Amino acid sequence: MFFNKKTRRNWHLIKGEPITEMDRKILFFQDRGKLCPKRSLIKTPEQIEGIRRSGVVNTGVLDLVAQEIHEGMTTAEIDKLVYDYTLDHHAIPACLGFEGFPKSVCTSINEVVCHGIPSEKEVLKEGDIINVDCTTILDGYFADASRMFIIGETTPEKANLVKVAKECLEIGASVCTPYSFVGDIGYAIAKHAHKNGYSVVRDLCGHGVGLQFHEEPDVLHYGKKGTGMLLVPGMVFTIEPMINAGDWRVFVDADDGWTVVTEDYKPSAQWEHTFVMTETGLEILTY
Ligand code: MF3
Ligand code: CO
Ligand code: CO
Repeated sequence: MFFNKKTRRNWHLIKGEPITEMDRKILFFQDRGKLCPKRSLIKTPEQIEGIRRSGVVNTGVLDLVAQEIHEGMTTAEIDKLVYDYTLDHHAIPACLGFEGFPKSVCTSINEVVCHGIPSEKEVLKEGDIINVDCTTILDGYFADASRMFIIGETTPEKANLVKVAKECLEIGASVCTPYSFVGDIGYAIAKHAHKNGYSVVRDLCGHGVGLQFHEEPDVLHYGKKGTGMLLVPGMVFTIEPMINAGDWRVFVDADDGWTVVTEDYKPSAQWEHTFVMTETGLEILTY
């Protein structure tokens, strides 16, 4: 079996068409052994507009959750808000039925890292930190984002974790320029997390998105500069660092097969946006 994906030559010239500036730039890196995208990962302007429209609904969902979330609410109520708002806006919650996921959104409280399943039995209490992760499909286009919410007052430790996780997303996005690498993002994120005494979850990553829920490339939140896939204008992907207060290790709840929990039960925080790479840098599609 040929397993060395990293040396695969993904970028090909189109026969009979002139070589563009982008072709030249990508082939420069590919000739030096860098992992380059397949041409199909470069979205057309029409596709980017479609993902942007989906992102508008996605942002509306999370804004609604931000308005309504409160102590005493169940995570099933958050799920209903997401479901109703999404359908009212002629869109579909991507999570619902995705590989058997039973609800419309992921709700992950405290030591739950991600993929928490909303439940009538789960009541938000003062001091909880919760990630609400929502993916929207509008006219076939996917937009994926998540935010943290603090219920009432929390401890300074948890509040700082939420703040630093947000900074990790922002710093990861800011180092990401055209013809940089996925590894540059991960390097910057891990550096900021470690500087603050936190760890970065390694078992889950960001991803290409837009025409499907999860596309190439894998966007790892740790790594070495200059490694991973080359990022070129037209690529659409998420950055979604999961930052742990304690150890980076996680496990999946064996009973539901979904809920990802920190091994040491210390809290975890995550923020996520969908971005498009432009000629000048990243643009957020989920604002
Ligand atoms: N929204 C998550 C992500 O950022 C994926 C959730 S999959 C689900 O990639 F099935 F758990 F909903
Ligand atoms: Co998500
Ligand atoms: Co995602």
